[in-house]
Amino acid sequence: MATQQQLPRVESAPQTDRKLRVLSGIQPSGNFHLGNYLGAIRNWVNQQEMYDNSFCIVDLHALSLATTRDSLRANIRNLANTIVAAGVDPDACTLFVQSDVAEHSELCWVLQSVTQFGELRRMTQFKDKSGGQDESVSAALFTYPVLQAADILLYDADLVPVGEDQKQHIELTRDVAYRFNQRYGETFVLPRPDIKPDGARIMSLDDPAKKMSKSSPNPNSYIALGDKPDEIRRKIKRAVTDSGTEIVVDPGKPALTNLISIYSILNEMTPEAVQEQFAGRGYGAFKSELGESIVTAIEPIQQRLLELDASPEIIDGVLRSGAGKARAYASGTMTRVRERAGLGGY
Ligand code: TYM
Repeated sequence: MATQQQLPRVESAPQTDRKLRVLSGIQPSGNFHLGNYLGAIRNWVNQQEMYDNSFCIVDLHALSLATTRDSLRANIRNLANTIVAAGVDPDACTLFVQSDVAEHSELCWVLQSVTQFGELRRMTQFKDKSGGQDESVSAALFTYPVLQAADILLYDADLVPVGEDQKQHIELTRDVAYRFNQRYGETFVLPRPDIKPDGARIMSLDDPAKKMSKSSPNPNSYIALGDKPDEIRRKIKRAVTDSGTEIVVDPGKPALTNLISIYSILNEMTPEAVQEQFAGRGYGAFKSELGESIVTAIEPIQQRLLELDASPEIIDGVLRSGAGKARAYASGTMTRVRERAGLGGY
């Protein structure tokens, strides 16, 4: 079996006129936040004309941390509503729930046979989420990246639009796909991560050394999509800043750099232009306009969410039709995988 060092890091560079295939996923674990929006969903929306897109609500992944039936069901529905409210057009893409397509679990098992234990142990997300308690966390948390590889490889995805924190998982996906192809012949497309230079790592509002995260115990550290306008303004006012008064992007000023980055994405400006706009105006003026920019971006999404909440049959239909389309594609891939690996067929 090839070692990690021997594996190629070449682009998949598909030689084709067809639209590139995209697969991305998000966990239904509650508290969708501004980092999810700027790092992932906003890019899904911006690129929906360009690519052949599939988006997956990864409920099986959410089982890797303790959850209850009711909260999982509520989170799945809420996330599906949020994705559509944020602008993903269900007629132009395939939006579905992972567990509705049984092939994800099946391919995950097959891929575990070409995944090394040591590779999984090196995953930084596992180290973070297990918090050093690797005797008592679920085995699902450990094999989590293999299920993610299955999500991607089932749909022959060329590109995976994600935030920076997912880069290592996409690299593992490529390694696993390459190893399977080596052992059984060309079967999988090697996907590339699609990580934008801006917004890929939105940091926490109370500590710029940590990424903004829905699992943070401090709700002031993130802007949740459900936050009311006044709550958003208050959180931004309270956000930590660095010493000084000038609005400047500077590696020595990580908190300010993070806030400038959020402002620049929402207003489609470069960070330098933001610096110029706020030259000599101080933190107060900047934070107040940043708060307004976030409110302006989030309010219409909240409005559409209310409408979707009032008509659950809309999202039911979207997810049912998405699952049908995803199943049809995934079953073709699994037939190929079973045949290559010599599994079943009797
Ligand atoms: P999840 O649910 O944690 O996050 C969903 C997306 O949001 C991005 N993100 C961020 N981007 C910028 N700044 C932040 N602070 C921030 N926090 C989160 C994530 O990078 C991600 O793009 N393992 C994945 C879900 C997954 C998946 C997949 C992704 C399962 N299967 C297949 C892509 C392809 C996860 O836990 O994302």
